Amino acid sequence: MPDDAGRKPAPPEAATPFMRLGGEAGVRALVDRFYDLMDLEPTYAGIRRLHPSTLDGSRDKLFWFLCGWLGGPNHYIERFGHPRLRARHLPYAIGLAERDQWMACMMDAMRDEQVDTALADRLAEAFFGTADWMRNR
Ligand code: HEM
Repeated sequence: MPDDAGRKPAPPEAATPFMRLGGEAGVRALVDRFYDLMDLEPTYAGIRRLHPSTLDGSRDKLFWFLCGWLGGPNHYIERFGHPRLRARHLPYAIGLAERDQWMACMMDAMRDEQVDTALADRLAEAFFGTADWMRNR
């Protein structure tokens, strides 16, 4: 159905991943689940120990970053400038094991947050590209 201006509504797949996740509340829930799992699951102890003892700052930074990366507001860039993600990860030893733990933790978080399968597949590909690029060992 055209709207009052005669436009056709955008098909759902044209919405940004940020919108499809439910905006800031959805991204925050995904990030919180991701770090809860990292904190709780022994499988993720390897990457948990790279992080500070309290994860509050890590949660905020990943949330701010993902909002922009997923097509929403640029909270991270407004606060910190260019993400320079690879450089910012250089202090942490990231090899295949760390990349795969990060990915598995994010896949578990997307499953728990019931992210739509098509969107989760698409994000998995994008997350993998970024996680693999972060390897420095
Ligand atoms: C490949 C495995 C990865 C490991 C082991 C890892 C680990 C870490 C650690 C230990 C920190 C520091 C946390 C803190 O300062 O509180 C960090 C920061 C961060 N990570 Fe990762 N990370 C990985 C992949 C990723 C990916 C794929 C993304 C994005 C899609 C990402 C986004 C971020 C962001 C935005 C920060 C904050 C940077 C800053 O402002 O200092 N990380 N990561």
